[in-house]
Amino acid sequence: MAVQISPSILSADFARLADEAAVVAAVADWLHVDVMDNHFVPNLTIGLPVVESLLKHTTLPLDCHLMIEEPDRWAPEYAEAGARNVTIHAEAAHAPVRTLRAIRAAGARAGLAVNPGTAVEPYEDLLTEIDMLLLMTVEPGFGGQHFLDIVLPKLRRARSQVAGLGTAIWLQVDGGVDLETIERCAEAGADVFVAGSAVYHSDDPARAVQALRAQAEHATAHAAWAAHTPPGRPG
Ligand code: DX5
Ligand code: ZN
Repeated sequence: MAVQISPSILSADFARLADEAAVVAAVADWLHVDVMDNHFVPNLTIGLPVVESLLKHTTLPLDCHLMIEEPDRWAPEYAEAGARNVTIHAEAAHAPVRTLRAIRAAGARAGLAVNPGTAVEPYEDLLTEIDMLLLMTVEPGFGGQHFLDIVLPKLRRARSQVAGLGTAIWLQVDGGVDLETIERCAEAGADVFVAGSAVYHSDDPARAVQALRAQAEHATAHAAWAAHTPPGRPG
């Protein structure tokens, strides 16, 4: 099971997004783009026009995390624009099956996110509709928050739920992921790691990505779940 690192540009310089993407392009697997609408979360970031521009200026696949009230309306457009992954929040979607299918039909991977206090079980029937499950490890809205380890048991359960399905669903964690917490996430079952401040607030973002990957790979090599999981389907 390959470790993937998705640096979040929420902690980058928004006036220099293309340069900030380029800094990690050789070492990261994805570029994580946090779309916030000041309704689903109490913060406002960027939307479709900026994503469309960014797509022209980076070779990294975009991992769009929609923290917005109307994902059913907007998510397919991100996929059509060229985002390689589009993640919607379970708490916000009114027609998740239709929306997840529209994301896939547009050629992107479909992700479903849950907040720290949201259980995965009520959404279990959606697992066949998704390529990635995002377990938020902070309350969404801001970078630089403290990692919530109450999510770790849910992550362990999610890993066995997806293993039971026999399909290759990636498990992503987002929020407070750093050199210390990434180890615990990998051990508990995560394989895709978002990191904002741990990457962009470091003196050398590319080296930070490499260090996070090394730490996660080390922890995964010792994790019981990884020994029983078939390799994922390629992105
Ligand atoms: C928070 C965002 C995260 C954020 C993580 O709501 O979804 O992607 O950038 O930032 P750090 O890694 O600093 O917690
Ligand atoms: Zn995010």
